[in-house]
Amino acid sequence: YRIAVLASGRGSNLQALIDAIAAGDLPVRIAGVFSDRPDAVALQRAEQAGIHTAALRPRDFANRLEFDAALFEHIGAVQPDLIVCAGYMRLLSEPVVEANRGRMVNIHPSLLPAFKGLRTHEQALSAGAPVHGASVHFVTPELDGGPVIAQARVPVLAGDDAATLGARVLEREHPLLVESLRLLAGGRIRLGDAGVELDGATL
Ligand code: GRF
Repeated sequence: YRIAVLASGRGSNLQALIDAIAAGDLPVRIAGVFSDRPDAVALQRAEQAGIHTAALRPRDFANRLEFDAALFEHIGAVQPDLIVCAGYMRLLSEPVVEANRGRMVNIHPSLLPAFKGLRTHEQALSAGAPVHGASVHFVTPELDGGPVIAQARVPVLAGDDAATLGARVLEREHPLLVESLRLLAGGRIRLGDAGVELDGATL
């Protein structure tokens, strides 16, 4: 089971996958790591692990469609069974999303459908949410709006700021992503017509 990972920054979720695979806990192969930021730390982590990488700069392309077409040509070349957005911070255009329906997932730092978009920890704090967390979901054209596969919940504690809350969430993101990919790679989770199916039953 081959995965392609898209990442724009720090790459701690990518590292969690690399470590889980090395430990024998996740039966997948990372066929490539792809980025919109040639300086992303995620790329260094991939190279250190001997994983193929490619990075393209959005400003080298006329528009989002052309950038995505070029990026997904690189991705397609490694023939992934699944594309994993792990801290990929760029909007994806509809054609590449539609072309990969049910074959692309994202990890988002909130309990979707709450707090889509950016600065989710700030959003949760200003809303006074008692519980926050992270979600892994299938990617659809609606930003952070696709069917949820799995979630991890963390309490919001008195005195939390975005940094402390974000750190508590991130700690749970890593095992959440590993476990979600284990289910996907095992063929236990798929996107059906009516939504996410676990072992053939619609969730
Ligand atoms: C994570 O919080 C992820 O949920 C969000 O972006 C962040 C990426 O962190 N989409 P990292 O690059 O994996 O460390």
